[in-house]
Amino acid sequence: MKNKVLVTGGLGFIGSHTAVCLYEAGFEPIIVDNLSNSKISALHGIQELIGYKPSFYQNDISNIPALTKIFEEHKIDAVIHFAAYKAVGESVEFPLKYYQNNIGGLLAVLETMKAFNVNSVVFSSSCTVYGEPDQVPVMEVTPMKEAESPYGATKQMGERILNDNTNWCNTQCLRYFNPVGAHPSGKIGELPLGIPNNLIPYLTQTAAGIRKELTVFGDKYNTPDGTCIRDYIHVMDLAEAHVKAVERLIENKQEEAFEVFNIGTGTGSSVLEVIKTFEDVNQINVPYKIGPRRSGDVVQVWAETTKVEQVLGWKAQRDLSTMMKDAWNWQLELSKKTFNN
Ligand code: UFG
Repeated sequence: MKNKVLVTGGLGFIGSHTAVCLYEAGFEPIIVDNLSNSKISALHGIQELIGYKPSFYQNDISNIPALTKIFEEHKIDAVIHFAAYKAVGESVEFPLKYYQNNIGGLLAVLETMKAFNVNSVVFSSSCTVYGEPDQVPVMEVTPMKEAESPYGATKQMGERILNDNTNWCNTQCLRYFNPVGAHPSGKIGELPLGIPNNLIPYLTQTAAGIRKELTVFGDKYNTPDGTCIRDYIHVMDLAEAHVKAVERLIENKQEEAFEVFNIGTGTGSSVLEVIKTFEDVNQINVPYKIGPRRSGDVVQVWAETTKVEQVLGWKAQRDLSTMMKDAWNWQLELSKKTFNN
């Protein structure tokens, strides 16, 4: 019998890739998603990749009776909790919505887990908890800064809540850096609704002619080329990190009940380097202009990855060129679908 892993937000960008990787590693993914920021087409993509339709529940994670039904129907061995809102700017405008969903949702998931004696969870955290770091790369022990947005606050609070529940619950807390790219098949990827906020979907939409030009938010930062630096990480590497984390939980290999890992490549890339790599690897020109800084942007952040490599046994395998190639491949698939519909 396969171990069953409940994947909340399993039709989202990271969730859908993780569901595929879980299946490939011998687990059975059970998906719950309310489709608030995802589409049912992701389920079809997963189905094409794994060869069957995984169990899927279209429910809100805050709905405890609906969650209870899932736990009654399946003997869940571990939970990967992705379901949350993730737009920094939107969280400033609608803080209640963020606290409700990201904190209320986490509490509902934990309460249901506790009721069914399920005590293993992987939590989606973010490098946003470090704020503007005093030193790069950032280590897991680098102190957090006060959150700059309600979104960031929900990630810090989520970590705190899990830390407070170590008497019954084991947590693998994964702090993602900047997830990009897509499954190499082009069958699943990121589905930004409306005008994208993030660099890579804006870039691919510009290359596809959907947007006129990309704006680089500032080129006078104190970095080698003046643009901000991030640690971009391929979503397939990120998905594989989740599989490692689940295995560590299920095989009872944790040394502490709450363990935290940076999930990045350990390398920072500037905005201009990202654009240049995209253009080179895909042989396509991306019109861009330099614009003003975006408020709230940190100047530079990338991950120290020694702990995750040594303790979790995971290391990113895909480079920036692969990320840009797969992101473009996915955009081309998306454009085809739009034309066909
Ligand atoms: N950028 C541009 N032009 C754009 C979009 C982004 O120049 O049109 C720049 C940003 O200024 C930044 C870089 O590209 O320097 C990356 O920006 P993203 O919006 O893609 O990503 P962020 O680093 O701002 O945010 C990401 C996640 C958040 C998370 C945060 C933690 O989207 O969920 O990392 O640092 F909180």
